[in-house]
Amino acid sequence: MPRALITGITGQDGLYLGELLASKGYEVFGLVRGQSNPKIATVERIIPSIELVEGDLTDLPSLIGAMEIAQPDEVYNLGAISFVGLSWKQAELTGEITGMGVLRVLEAIRIHTQNDMSKVRFYQASSSEMFGKVRETPQTELTPFHPRSPYGVAKTFGHYMTVNYRESYDAYACSGILFNHESPRRGHEFVTRKVTRAVARISLGLQDSLSLGNLDARRDWGFAGDYVDAMWRMLQQDAPDDYVVSTGETHTIRELLDVAFARVGMDDWSGLVQQDPRFFRPAEVDLLIGDATKAASVLGWKPTVPFHQLIEMMVDNDLLTERKLAADAARV
Ligand code: NAP
Ligand code: GDD
Repeated sequence: MPRALITGITGQDGLYLGELLASKGYEVFGLVRGQSNPKIATVERIIPSIELVEGDLTDLPSLIGAMEIAQPDEVYNLGAISFVGLSWKQAELTGEITGMGVLRVLEAIRIHTQNDMSKVRFYQASSSEMFGKVRETPQTELTPFHPRSPYGVAKTFGHYMTVNYRESYDAYACSGILFNHESPRRGHEFVTRKVTRAVARISLGLQDSLSLGNLDARRDWGFAGDYVDAMWRMLQQDAPDDYVVSTGETHTIRELLDVAFARVGMDDWSGLVQQDPRFFRPAEVDLLIGDATKAASVLGWKPTVPFHQLIEMMVDNDLLTERKLAADAARV
C-alpha cells in the first residue's frame, strides 16, 4: 500500500487529492495545524480513512515528526497562504508559509531520508501567479516569471527551491505550475465562489447586490478535481519534472458574471454589481492562459470540465447550500 503525506489537507485541493489517493488504495496522511481546527470534521467526513498528523509549515521539527509518523512514499505540499489579496496585508507571514514552508518540507524530507532524497517523491504546488506580468502568451514551462504579489514572489521562491533540491540532492521533486482551479469546495474569498454564492443568494432574495474589484482581469479556470489528478500523474513518471496544468481558455470576470447570473435566469446583472476600490489589488495579473501541451503529451492529462459547466456546477451547489441554510435559520 503506497503512503502519501499531504500538507494543506483541509483546503480545496487537499480534499480532492486525499479522496483520489484513498480511492487508489493509498494510505493517506494529512497534516493539520492549530488547536481545534474546525475543518478537521470535514476532512474526516470526506476521507474517512484519513490519518491526521499535527504540524505546521512554519515549524521544521513538526514536519520532521510528520515524516517519521507517515513514512511517506509521496509528499504533496499544498499548504500555503493561497489568497493573493491577503498576501499584501500579511506579506511576511506569506513569505514564511508559502515560500519558506516549501524549503522546510524539503529539508524535512532530506533529514528523514538521511540525504537519499530520491526515496520520497515530492510535489510542490506552484502557481501561474509566478508568470504575473506575463512575458508571452500562452504561458508554458519556459515562460520567464514576473510575479506581481507577495504570494507570487513566495511561490517563485518555492518553485526554484524545488528545482534546486532536484539538482542538488537528486530529489524526485516536481513543480506543478497550476492555473486557477475551482469547485464547489473553493473558499468564499476567491472570485468564482464569491460570485456563485452571491448569485445564489441574490436569486433567493437573501442579498441585494455584489461588490467586486477589477472586472477585466482574465483567468484560465479549470476544475480542481481534474487538477489533482495531474499532481498524482507527475509523481508516477520515471523522472521528476515541472509541468503547466491549464485549460488553454481564458475568460474575464465579466464573462464569469454572465454565466453565473444566466444560470438563475438573470441576464442583465449591471444594476446588481458594484465596483469597490477595496477589492482592487496594488498590482494586478491582467491575463493568464496556459499551454498544457507537455502535461497532455507526457502525463496523458487533459481537463474534462469546461468553463461554463464549472461555473454552473458551482452556482447549483450554492443554491442548494443557501436554501438549506435559509431553511435552517427559519426553523430556529
Ligand atoms: P486553500 O484551499 O487555500 O488551502 C490552503 C491549505 O493550506 C489549507 O489546508 C490550510 O490549512 C493550509 N495551511 C495554511 N497555512 C498553513 C501552515 N502554516 N501550516 C500548514 N498548513 C497551512 O488552497 P487550494 O486552493 O487548495 O490550493 C492548494 C495549493 O495549491 C496552495 O499552495 C495554493 O497556493 C496552490 N495553488 C492553487 C491554485 C488554485 O487555483 N486553487 C492554483 C495554483 C496553485 P488551514 O485549514 O489550517 O488553514
Ligand atoms: N478574490 C477576488 N475578489 N478577486 C477579484 C474580485 C473580488 O472581489 N474582484 C475582481 N477580482 C479579480 C482579481 O483581481 C483577480 O484578477 C481575479 O479576480 C482572480 O482572483 P482570485 O479568485 O482571488 O484568484 P487569483 O487568480 O488571484 O489567485 C488564485 O489562482 C492562483 C493561480 O493563478 C489562487 O487560487 C492562488 O492561490 C493561485 O495560485
